[in-house]
Amino acid sequence: MRHFLTTGDWRRDELQTILAMARDFKRQPMMDVLKGRSIALLFFNPSLRTRTSFEIGAFELGGHAVILQPGRDAWPLAFDWGGIMDGEAEEHVREAAEVLSRYCSLICVRAFPKFQDWVEDRQDKILNAFAQYATVPVINMETITHPCQELAHIMALQEKIGETDGKKFVLTWTYHPKPLNTAVANSALLIAAKFGMDVTLLCPGKDYILDDRYMRAARQSAEEQGGSVTVSHDIEKAYGNADIVYAKSWGALPYFGRWEDEKPLRDQNRHFMVDEKKMALTNKALFSHCLPVRRNVKVTDAVLDSPGCIAIDEAENRLHVQKAIMARLLAEVS
Ligand code: CP
Repeated sequence: MRHFLTTGDWRRDELQTILAMARDFKRQPMMDVLKGRSIALLFFNPSLRTRTSFEIGAFELGGHAVILQPGRDAWPLAFDWGGIMDGEAEEHVREAAEVLSRYCSLICVRAFPKFQDWVEDRQDKILNAFAQYATVPVINMETITHPCQELAHIMALQEKIGETDGKKFVLTWTYHPKPLNTAVANSALLIAAKFGMDVTLLCPGKDYILDDRYMRAARQSAEEQGGSVTVSHDIEKAYGNADIVYAKSWGALPYFGRWEDEKPLRDQNRHFMVDEKKMALTNKALFSHCLPVRRNVKVTDAVLDSPGCIAIDEAENRLHVQKAIMARLLAEVS
């Protein structure tokens, strides 16, 4: 039985098959893949797009989605092993995963890092615990990567430009008043390299370089796919001749849990906001962002409202790719 935890577990041709299925779902939204079945959507964090698109996706496949928010409308869960559960948690993930597997055909999990200790957070304990104890496939709805967003982005790119191989893909850090999860940045790096692009990671300095696990995986993919991965701190050079600009803000890993210390560094780099002047340096690049986005903080109105912005297409594609992922996983266990 396969899970969909990270695109790192899936070959490019397998992901391309899921993208082809997603295009079919886009043409023909209603299919009976989930008829008479239910899926559990566990949200440890808020969502607009993910929750809506998974819930509607289950409905359009003939199934039913059960939304659970552990600690709010479902019991708070424990994840550690061998501990004495005398704190807030009423239930261990093991029982939760095993019980939900008896009711549901899929378990989907959103669990962001706690933002205190990256060594701890990078273990992705919540997602991995569900994957370990569920007896049905588990889908990552964003933890320390966001694989559903990755496929939605590639689908949007393929719709606009066809083949992605050899395109210059700039993943740019942008300013945000708070430190944010690196998940989407990790994901953008991984998928752009996997789909053969020349990836430039543009960030204010070495503190904003992503976890070595993802840098190495992207370099490995680039080697296999004939692309490249470059780190740049030079805005003009990075934007030069770009075909795609993908923006995201994230917290600097060396400052993890010490966010007050990071703040002065972050505040010096407000000029990383994506604007028309920077976009004018590109090869008429497409622009995207995973959303939600703060206007005129991360990206100017003019860029977000330009014809080259594909963020809404990408968000729509979340629905289609997630239906394809669900269908693909269930085809193996049916
Ligand atoms: N992009 C994304 O996952 O959006 P939500 O956080 O609204 O689900």
